Amino acid sequence: MSRQIRITPSILNADFSQLDSEIARISSQSDLIHLDVMDNLFVPNFTFDFDRASQIINSCPIPVDAHLMVADVDLIAPAYAEAGCASVTIHAEATTNIPSTLRAIRRAGARAGLGIKPGTDIEGYADLLDEVDMFLIMTVEPGFGGQSFMHEMMEKVRRTRAIIGDRPIWLQVDGGVSLSTITEAAEAGADVFVAGSAVFGAADPASMIVSLRNLAMAVAD
Ligand code: DX5
Ligand code: ZN
Repeated sequence: MSRQIRITPSILNADFSQLDSEIARISSQSDLIHLDVMDNLFVPNFTFDFDRASQIINSCPIPVDAHLMVADVDLIAPAYAEAGCASVTIHAEATTNIPSTLRAIRRAGARAGLGIKPGTDIEGYADLLDEVDMFLIMTVEPGFGGQSFMHEMMEKVRRTRAIIGDRPIWLQVDGGVSLSTITEAAEAGADVFVAGSAVFGAADPASMIVSLRNLAMAVAD
């Protein structure tokens, strides 16, 4: 198996009052920065409104992977692409017209991601392979950082990898990814790994990213 491995640190558990310096600590080793956008409706937590998110996107020195955990995402998702995100992920559970919103994200110049919560099956979305650049399998209930990795999601990751086959679609896992869980996720077929508290809780966040990548690459090689 030979897959490119990407590590996308989530800034959810970073210090929001000094985000520039928090991002500077990890940017040399990160493939993308994972920006968790929460509206206190789709999930019981709030992070950024669009204006604040746009500031972060504009000042971020590396590509931004926006994870939109917001209700009624159809209209706002293309705006995140226009704001300069490299990748914009919508949740299947929050989107009214999934194919049209995925197409609008691509038209606005970003990769189109489709995420599903732990209780949602992937099979209902297998016919969207031509519209999707990345599937996101949540390995915690969305809303908060620092939760425990749901090992029982690995079967869903394996099924998603089988559906993707050889297509150049990324397969992301998000939630509870750490030195003790990343190997299992990579073995199940994931190739893009969000890590929040594992990175920002480490004494040296940049070297934690290197360690996580090395573990995943050992499986993917
Ligand atoms: C949860 C977020 C995750 C979270 C990951 O709703 O989507 O991106 O920040 O944080 P950890 O790695 O701490 O689980
Ligand atoms: Zn996320």
